Amino acid sequence: MRRADDGALEVAGVGVAELAADHGTPSYIVDEADFRARARAYRIAFEAAFAAVGTGVDVYYAGKALLTVAVARWAREEGLRVDTASGGELAVALRAGVPGSEIGLHGNNKSDTEIGRAFDNGVGRIIVDSLAEIDRIADLAVERGVVAPVMVRVTTGVHAGGHEYISTAHEDQKFGLSVNLASAVPDADSPAMTALLRILERPSLKLLGIHSHIGSQILDPDGFEAAAAAVLELRAALAARTGVLVEEVDLGGGYGIAYLPGEVALDPERVAKDIASSVADVAARLGTPLPRFSIEPGRAIVGPAGMTLYSVGTVKPVTVGGDGEEPFTRLYVSVDGGMSDNIRPALYGADYHAEIVGRSSDAAPVLARVVGKHCESGDIVVHQVMLPGDVRAGDLLAVAATGAYGRSMASNYNLLLRPPVVAVRDGASRVLVRRETEEDLLGLDQG
Ligand code: LLP
Repeated sequence: MRRADDGALEVAGVGVAELAADHGTPSYIVDEADFRARARAYRIAFEAAFAAVGTGVDVYYAGKALLTVAVARWAREEGLRVDTASGGELAVALRAGVPGSEIGLHGNNKSDTEIGRAFDNGVGRIIVDSLAEIDRIADLAVERGVVAPVMVRVTTGVHAGGHEYISTAHEDQKFGLSVNLASAVPDADSPAMTALLRILERPSLKLLGIHSHIGSQILDPDGFEAAAAAVLELRAALAARTGVLVEEVDLGGGYGIAYLPGEVALDPERVAKDIASSVADVAARLGTPLPRFSIEPGRAIVGPAGMTLYSVGTVKPVTVGGDGEEPFTRLYVSVDGGMSDNIRPALYGADYHAEIVGRSSDAAPVLARVVGKHCESGDIVVHQVMLPGDVRAGDLLAVAATGAYGRSMASNYNLLLRPPVVAVRDGASRVLVRRETEEDLLGLDQG
């Protein structure tokens, strides 16, 4: 991105005024070259770091962050595979021409239809999330005369996200099977070990390996290393017990990005080296050869490559404070979208950065809050940001780093129309997903 002489922002050589004129606002803008560069950076960093310790790695792009046919193609062209979490994500990856063998299917409650579609398309790995699912997948595979490739999603007690990680023995969440013993039953197998043993008993299942995802927006790599160690220990314990040393370990996604000016993203080279050297040490201690690894970054690939372009509407100064507190003015700047195109501030208290991007301004900055147009006071786009004091209706405003979990978590709240996804590259823009229309909404409504 760069600011042209008149102060207007250009993304990949396309000015924001042109984007707004051609595609309207709000619009999600994705910089194709930036997406590709991040995908490549992750793949190359991990390949180099794991090759240095004598094993290989596959990078799966986590489609939940943003999946369109073009985005899946970009990921594939950059040498990534695609991780899906539903029939819908699977359908888009397949439509993009991603071979089934390069797709993973997740989900804690997969339907028989989703599992059947995974079989039909030769999906390379189905990540099992419960004991009940093992039997269901095995029975469906028998019915269809296939052998289903599966991994077991385990929980290691390591949770990460934000700036630190925590490690707790017992899990109280819906995903995965715990590697830790239930303390009430002293000699029982852990749920994770039970799942692995059960899979080995079913000839219609092929046990590929073990999967662990510890959280999202992680900025401290220690959590990955702790979880990887727990997974390698489980793998060695299974081998000691059964003679089966599973070939693959997936360490999930979660690599954190910068949302605000001054924040520092996780560096793929550094984190890849740290994880690779740590798993090599653990494997040496356990006396087991290293497995092939895989990772599933989503946000780190597409988050910084995307921004949302809005038009400013109502601007309203609100005096805040009193009751002993020094009163101050907060400028409420309303844009033509809101919590329906980015739920993350409302859902997680997520912080973003916004700028007026259609022009330059010499006006003194004022404390502003960017809000949407929904009938809800929690409809906040940016909690706090300094904007030029002359911000006014008609200004173009961009919110940075909305590429991940913006469009993919968008809704039609208040029957707003979901914005288009527009790709920019080499001075040109192209619609990847068109804007919804009122006809789309009315077409769903059967009266
Ligand atoms: N793999 C698995 C199994 C996952 O569950 C996730 C994310 C990922 C990979 C990708 O994680 P990433 O690299 O994008 O952090 N809606 C939330 C994030 C939810 C993430 C859920 N799982 C947000 O907007 O922050």
